[in-house]
Amino acid sequence: MKLSVIGLGKLGLCTAAYLASRGFKVAGYDINETLTDQLRNGFNPIEEPDLDELLITAKPNLTICNNLHEAVIDSDTTLIIVPTPSRDDGFFSNDYVKDVLCSVGTALSEKTSYHVVDVVSTVMPGSCEQEFIPMLETSARKSCGTDFGFVYNPEFIALGTVIKDFSRPDMVLIGASDERAAETVAKIYGQACLNSPPIYTMSLTNAEIGKLALNCFVTMKISFANELARICEKTPGADVDAVTSAIGQDTRIGNKYLTGGMGFGGPCFPRDNIALSAFANSIGHDPRLSPATQQVNQQVVDVLEEKIKANVSPGARITLLGMAYKSGSPIIEASQSMELANRLLERRYRLTVSDPTALVNVQRVLGERVCYEEDVYCACEGANAVVLLAPWPQYRRIDWAKADRQVSKGTLLLDCWRMAPESELNNFHCHALGKGSRK
Ligand SMILES: NC(=O)c1ccc[n+]([C@@H]2O[C@H](COP(=O)([O-])OP(=O)(O)OC[C@H]3O[C@@H](n4cnc5c(N)ncnc54)[C@H](O)[C@@H]3O)[C@@H](O)[C@H]2O)c1
Repeated sequence: MKLSVIGLGKLGLCTAAYLASRGFKVAGYDINETLTDQLRNGFNPIEEPDLDELLITAKPNLTICNNLHEAVIDSDTTLIIVPTPSRDDGFFSNDYVKDVLCSVGTALSEKTSYHVVDVVSTVMPGSCEQEFIPMLETSARKSCGTDFGFVYNPEFIALGTVIKDFSRPDMVLIGASDERAAETVAKIYGQACLNSPPIYTMSLTNAEIGKLALNCFVTMKISFANELARICEKTPGADVDAVTSAIGQDTRIGNKYLTGGMGFGGPCFPRDNIALSAFANSIGHDPRLSPATQQVNQQVVDVLEEKIKANVSPGARITLLGMAYKSGSPIIEASQSMELANRLLERRYRLTVSDPTALVNVQRVLGERVCYEEDVYCACEGANAVVLLAPWPQYRRIDWAKADRQVSKGTLLLDCWRMAPESELNNFHCHALGKGSRK
């Protein structure tokens, strides 16, 4: 089967490369000519583990095209993976998807063979049936369900593990206009996946709701663990890890995303949560869980800011370890560490920031307003407070005796993930979040 992938960004390029590596002939197209030139010249600007190697394996089957029309004409299924930015009202904008669909429709009008249009971008419930299919039918002058098929097929991947998540998904969600379209996309997964995931075929609307529901549920778990961390912290002798590691073993709960620590951020979780609330409001339902999840998430940064304010005066030097929205990723979009940095700068603290991979991205936003230090020990040197924000594996291997020697007696260490060995620290005054002190 020949595929075309429209949009070669963080998700699209991984998808195109993965499918090509699994034997599909893939034509990739992106409107950004700088990106496509780079890709054609063998340079990969998207940072994602294993993607460089995958692009080498994919090379014989992956063509980077200049022309969307030709890519569609010369393929059997088109995957659309373009941005759907959030609007001020919380809804996602469909403008980029509609631009692409307009061109896809024109190409379909010239095709005689059956073609499946597969939207992977995250869209609001109702978008496919109310906007996309009527648009395509008009521009292609063809009927959906007979001349072409339409599928909404969201991916449940996490940045940093995209390729692993693609190869072994827990499940596959296929919202489809008709059985033939669903079977076509199911067949792609059959060849692409290294496991045999359950495939859930459903209406387009159910798949649209399913995508938002899954992400919102995961964020609810994160906020639950963080609320529990606040409760444990105020209870002498309590330890959130003892509680979550046990309750996570119950199969009704599960232990993933159930560690008290920083809240959720990044390009998907916060906006999906807001979108589900906005959608609920738009149909006359007053949602309670998604807004509460968001509020608890916001509290994580509030608590850190308060603790710093209570212990260190403005003008003091604060070191922030871990700036990306999560460990394992260089992305800083909606990162709580970035929000904390901005709040502390407003309060006139002096900041040194460190991160294994995100410093270039941080520098683009914070510029000269903070100091950058890759080396953790140099970053700690002379700090009045150190905040351990992300559970990077590198931070789990910190030589704490060495870090402790870089600071003077009584330096505050806010340990969001309880990684530092409190009893071995002499100079640091460690405050492990989520643990209730007996003193
Ligand atoms: N990144 C993720 O982890 C993730 C996960 C699940 C779902 N999604 C969804 O996938 C979609 C894409 O996300 P992303 O993170 O890959 O975005 P991105 O911004 O990294 O990439 C989008 C790409 O689309 C290209 N593009 C824009 N308009 C185009 C057009 N008319 N024709 C061709 N290419 C065009 C852009 O140039 C860009 O390279 C969004 O709806 C997002 O919500 C992303």
